[in-house]
Amino acid sequence: MEYTLDRLHRQAREAILGTALVGAEHIELVAPKPNIPADVAMPAFKAARDKQIPPPQFAQQVAAAVTIPADSLLSDVVAAGPFVNFSIEKSRYIASVLAEVTKLGNRYGSDDLGTNKRIVIDYSSVNIAKLMHVGHIRSTIIGQSLANIYRFLGYTVIGDNHLGDYGKQFGMNIAAIVRSGKPEGQDEEALAQIDKLYAAYSKEAKDNEAMHDEARAWSLKLEQGDATAVELWQWMVNLTLTAIQTNYDRLGVTFDHALGESFYAPLNEGVIEECLASGFAHRDEAGAVVVNELEDGMPTFLLQRSDTGSLYHTRDMGCIKYRMSEFQPDQIIYVVGTPQELHFRQLFALARKVGYVPDGIELEHVKFGTIFDQSGKPLSTRAGNMVYLTELLDDAHTRARAVVDASSPDLPEHVKADVAEKVGIGAVMYNDLYQDSRRNITLDWDRMLAIEGNSAPYIQYMYARCRSIVRRVLGDSADLRIPACDASVLTHPSELDLVRQLAKLPGIVREAAQRYATFVVAEWCYDTARTFSAFYRDCPVVKADDEAIRTARLALTAATAQALKNGLGLLGIHVPERM
Ligand code: ARG
Repeated sequence: MEYTLDRLHRQAREAILGTALVGAEHIELVAPKPNIPADVAMPAFKAARDKQIPPPQFAQQVAAAVTIPADSLLSDVVAAGPFVNFSIEKSRYIASVLAEVTKLGNRYGSDDLGTNKRIVIDYSSVNIAKLMHVGHIRSTIIGQSLANIYRFLGYTVIGDNHLGDYGKQFGMNIAAIVRSGKPEGQDEEALAQIDKLYAAYSKEAKDNEAMHDEARAWSLKLEQGDATAVELWQWMVNLTLTAIQTNYDRLGVTFDHALGESFYAPLNEGVIEECLASGFAHRDEAGAVVVNELEDGMPTFLLQRSDTGSLYHTRDMGCIKYRMSEFQPDQIIYVVGTPQELHFRQLFALARKVGYVPDGIELEHVKFGTIFDQSGKPLSTRAGNMVYLTELLDDAHTRARAVVDASSPDLPEHVKADVAEKVGIGAVMYNDLYQDSRRNITLDWDRMLAIEGNSAPYIQYMYARCRSIVRRVLGDSADLRIPACDASVLTHPSELDLVRQLAKLPGIVREAAQRYATFVVAEWCYDTARTFSAFYRDCPVVKADDEAIRTARLALTAATAQALKNGLGLLGIHVPERM
């Protein structure tokens, strides 16, 4: 889709081409530095070098030769050093941006560039019979946000929760349950108990070979479809999924599929045969199937143990094969922590070598770092500082409630509860999304819930403020409707800054998708909130003395609310109408 900013760039390009001084291959448009009074710039270096003219002189020639059509979004062109700088025709530009936000509403920033393209996103991918701790929350939140972003761009997204429901540990789980009986509790409580039984069993089994054999026997029985084993396993699967669903609901997380590793086990044999036949794997003397060194320095790895057991890699190979034939994706994205980097490099290399994934289809591992507590220690079960998701979300709600109670004591109870949930959950999600996912993050409540600074509550607060301004003028029922206005009365630099900021959203969404980077959207939300705050400081809306100016500022305020709502929505963060 061509948004205002795209059109501006196209027109600048056409204007430069019109001079016949610069070839299309030398036109690169950039955003001028913040202190430069221009909107689009062309650095003249490349073209100047080609013509052997000093860049500043060449920029002069180009600027002098440019003609701007009467109905253009551009107004002026000047040379500034080695740059050709264009500025916007302000009122036309503002009118165009406001018209787009008005027309598209909740879809402002969306695109059709993904039409007919399919993307599988593997996210959350929790392990069965384990409490969902904050490590999984990262995959869940980042994955859902990427899914939102790609859908907004018109892609067909297939979200798959690749459950960890297969492996030796289930033998141990079953053995422990058979020995001690099914835990009594419900949901997470029962999960926590299974966790404890498992830990106790595995500790005792350390110097008790018979207990190990017992666990191994159950794991074999499970693979062979033994009724008791399958029943207990299914019970654990259901228990985990039910317990997790509450968290998913609170986080607004949804999937199209939840196919676990066990689903792909029947494909193991075929995978192994095909890998052997391809020549990229071989059977060693002990009978294990080993994948060769696929790339320089890449460690070899197993697809089958000598006792015929399959591995994580084997199931992931079956999974890729299945996804390719079932969903015919253009791309598969795996949102999984950095520790699994080698696993995915090996998996992708093998899947390409044996021809499961042809060259044009992209495979991407979107990695994320570890979560640290406030004192800088990584959260871990062993260190005893692990935070479980339910607890985390409840804690967030309680803390947000305290903030709401302090800042808006007069809100009715049900509104306070709603705001606390949106703000608390928003704070947790934003903490995961606002910086490069590869970085480690800290769980720092004071910063996460701060009403000032780069946090969800700050952005939500600015949204609520926009809404309250609109309500004051248009009345309580005012939805996100943007009043018609005369854009030419908006001439204050802070008004223009805000319009420019709103105009960026469509490009921001595309960039986020291209870089798998939710923080690009988060940064835009934060910048928009700050730009709005400056506008509000400099330009009275309700109290503007001129009717036309008041309406135009109101339109700008309403458009800001809409754009912020859309941006936060891509991060999965809800906006409170009051705060
Ligand atoms: N369940 C795994 C874990 O918690 C993550 C699975 C990621 N997806 C995949 N296709 N391997 O470590």
